[in-house]
Amino acid sequence: MKLYGVIGDPIAHSLSPVMQGRAFDEMGIKAHYHPFHIKGQDLEIAIKGMKAIGVEGFNVTIPHKTAVIPFLDSIDPLAKAIGAVNTVIRENNRWIGYNTDGEGFTEALQAEWKENLQDEQVLMIGAGGAAKAVFYTLLSKGIHHIDICNRTMERAKKLIKDCPYKGHSTALTLTEAEEKLSQYSLIIQTTSIGMYPEVSQSPLSLEQLNPNAFVSDIIYNPFETTFLKAAKKRGAKTQNGLGMFVYQGALAFEKWTGQSPNIQRMTETVMEQLGGNVCLPENKNAF
Ligand code: ATR
Repeated sequence: MKLYGVIGDPIAHSLSPVMQGRAFDEMGIKAHYHPFHIKGQDLEIAIKGMKAIGVEGFNVTIPHKTAVIPFLDSIDPLAKAIGAVNTVIRENNRWIGYNTDGEGFTEALQAEWKENLQDEQVLMIGAGGAAKAVFYTLLSKGIHHIDICNRTMERAKKLIKDCPYKGHSTALTLTEAEEKLSQYSLIIQTTSIGMYPEVSQSPLSLEQLNPNAFVSDIIYNPFETTFLKAAKKRGAKTQNGLGMFVYQGALAFEKWTGQSPNIQRMTETVMEQLGGNVCLPENKNAF
């Protein structure tokens, strides 16, 4: 029996153990995926201990995604640039850190919208940790036109300035973004605005939204944020954050096992777990 897991604080509500555990079962791999509740002060000893007891790989969640880096043996270049790790694999008894969040977002977007994103005019809302993973990953894939708007414009500017991947990006205030909105074909909402329990909040007015645009929100609780509802009302196609969560997990699974899990089944597993704890939209297949 191989051992995998996720480290975080808190960890009890993580959806990963059931999602990954079932994926292992379905692929016929004898493995256990455990939620490890690790406090910040115990992080170093926990990482060493997991090697000692033979853990094969693990996920990292809040608040350890950045703090874990000094305790790993090597970091993939994209994860290094992002400054955060969510997936660790064990190779020749060395811990190698990756970030599959941005990649998971991109794959979900490609699966739910379209494969070729190169020529999209992108507006990203937010400049925090999630925004950084998505922004750097998209740029690393050659998607060049990504503007960033944020309540604190300085953070958006810094994100652009610090990015090691080339692109054409402008930092905007939220008001500037609202005014220019019709120019964008893809809008990506990465802030926590509209997340349960503050479900009535929305980061931006969508009055000028191009109805042909695609609007993505990384939140999945509620299933359909006020922001996505408004986008849909204006005729846009939308996507919530469930796909990003599932794909980041599937990418981790692939790194550990070399096998691709069934995305549809993983999605159903997460949906089942969310069950009564999520505000479902009228159309459950909306994501
Ligand atoms: P995460 O790592 O989850 O992205 P974060 O680093 O705290 O979290 O970033 C949160 C993002 O949501 C930021 O872009 C933040 O804007 P600021 O940089 O101005 O703080 C944005 N955000 C959170 N609450 C907000 C609110 N009430 N209004 C506007 N922006 C908000």
